Amino acid sequence: MNSVFLNKAALAIVMSVGVAWFSHVVSDVVVPHTAPAKPAFSLPGLENVSIQPYLAQASVSRGAELARQICASCHAFKRGASNGVGPNLSGVVGRPIASVTSYSYSASLRSLQNHSWTDQNLSDWLTAPAHFAPGTRMSLMGIPVVTQRADIIAYLHTLTAPLPAGKNSQ
Ligand code: HEC
Repeated sequence: MNSVFLNKAALAIVMSVGVAWFSHVVSDVVVPHTAPAKPAFSLPGLENVSIQPYLAQASVSRGAELARQICASCHAFKRGASNGVGPNLSGVVGRPIASVTSYSYSASLRSLQNHSWTDQNLSDWLTAPAHFAPGTRMSLMGIPVVTQRADIIAYLHTLTAPLPAGKNSQ
């Protein structure tokens, strides 16, 4: 090995280290370290969409089937039935949030007690419960398909038959 070769090898090493360092510095400038405030894309259906147009075409029987598959492990639907992991859902449409007195709600849902379960609130809740009420104990990821939410809400409407006179709700 002569010294010319060694010089060339040393120069090559110095240059590649220099290039690596330079690209590191440049990438630091070009790619910001902080996450963007707004995601660059959003998953379809996960943003709050207006549920009203979908309710017009919703199917109560499909909703009943979905509720049986997804919700029934935690919720009772029949009036007077005892609460499960979650509160009884009979008459839930239109009633104030976290208002079943025999059920112990999370602080998160209780903080929304001055709102009611409108169709839109139910849709937003079912889209992503933890987004609607951060800290909620309802451990359901959410139902991203808007037509399925509409079907379920249409079914929940059927649980709102007027109570016989003199009976308390639940
Ligand atoms: C894994 C159990 C679980 C499943 C599955 C589940 N829930 Fe819940 N749900 C809960 C719990 C627990 C709460 C109470 C949450 C809290 O207090 O933060 C709740 C609360 C609710 C409430 C609020 C009721 C009120 O009185 O304010 C609604 C509405 C609701 N669930 C609807 C549904 C629907 C519809 C489904 C099916 C699509 C569903 N849940 C599936 C556990 C569940």
